[in-house]
Amino acid sequence: MQQDLIEHFRSRFGRSPEFLAWAPGRVEFIGNHTDYNGGTVLGAAIDRGVWVALAPREDNRRRMTTTLGGALLEFSAEPPVRQGGTAAWTNYPLGVLAVMPEFGLRVPAGFDLAVGSNLPAGAGLSSSAALELASALVYLAATGQEPTRETVVKLARRAENAFVGVPCGILDQAVVGFGRAGHLVRVDCRGPRFEPVPIPAEARFWVFNTHTKHALVDGMYAARHRECLAAARAAGVAFLADLNAAELQARADRLSEVELRRARHVVGEIERVARMTVALRAGDLAAAGELLSASHESSRASFENSTPELDFLVDRLRVVPEVFGARLTGGGFGGAVMALTDRRFGSEAAQAVSAAYAARFGSAPEVLPMTTGEGAGLLRV
Ligand code: GLA
Repeated sequence: MQQDLIEHFRSRFGRSPEFLAWAPGRVEFIGNHTDYNGGTVLGAAIDRGVWVALAPREDNRRRMTTTLGGALLEFSAEPPVRQGGTAAWTNYPLGVLAVMPEFGLRVPAGFDLAVGSNLPAGAGLSSSAALELASALVYLAATGQEPTRETVVKLARRAENAFVGVPCGILDQAVVGFGRAGHLVRVDCRGPRFEPVPIPAEARFWVFNTHTKHALVDGMYAARHRECLAAARAAGVAFLADLNAAELQARADRLSEVELRRARHVVGEIERVARMTVALRAGDLAAAGELLSASHESSRASFENSTPELDFLVDRLRVVPEVFGARLTGGGFGGAVMALTDRRFGSEAAQAVSAAYAARFGSAPEVLPMTTGEGAGLLRV
């Protein structure tokens, strides 16, 4: 993939890149919709991701291309403007440029930039955060700046919030930035603080991508964000993370019925993150699996961000003896399910689940065995 990208760069721009960065996708392990509520969440960087190659230019032209096809796009070195249609993917590298000055960082003037990826888009694996982090790293390398990793993570999230326009929390960018092979990243979103949590060696992850994410997802995500903030306000706290289950229950009559359900999910997830951390440290994968399944049930019944397709996969996976547990991963409303399995769960078992899904919904999900990987970094060209 890396070599393909370099070839693509040379054929499109007639020269070689000078800087190259890679950033992984991520799986949200548990802690659904907790991040923008000031809570905690566990995620893993995976061994698939996005590469960004860059060569500076002497003039003020900024040209961008991707190995996935489409036209070579050209911008001037003016403050970036949000793009639509087939150019929408450039909002991630452009968004990073747009917010760098807010962090006191210089932006590169002209450059040629090419993007390659082996991460399925729209699967809930954060290709957008990966593209933001990898873009940030090549811009910083090209301008000789070395802010802290935490600043790079915050910069990428700011690009997503302020330029792309998605009110996401810090989970995706944090895990992409701080991932470590063999580990989950535990993010305390309030600090923010980032801590690696080792995964027991016999654990395996599988992702089943339903390809059912639809155009309204961003609007539904934003609606949940609003409902959670309204629930916190009604309960008299700054963030839902300020409440435990008993405290929420004591204030239940101040919240609308919908607000209460959203709040129960978030508060329950934060408690499950704490229990998951203990279960993983003890190597208790059965307990970990129970927590995953409880998380999905809470998404389905209380947060209402699951779908019949995701529920079907979770139900089908849960009855397989080699599966510890399964849940939707990421924002929800379509996208993917993640399963935690032992090493005996293989492609045959995965295919059986996939065939049952195809018989019910007419098309098979994409089946992705996952290995944890390292966080974003610069590579030698
Ligand atoms: C998306 C967002 C994250 C997080 C999850 C839900 O992936 O980008 O910030 O809110 O949804 O946990």
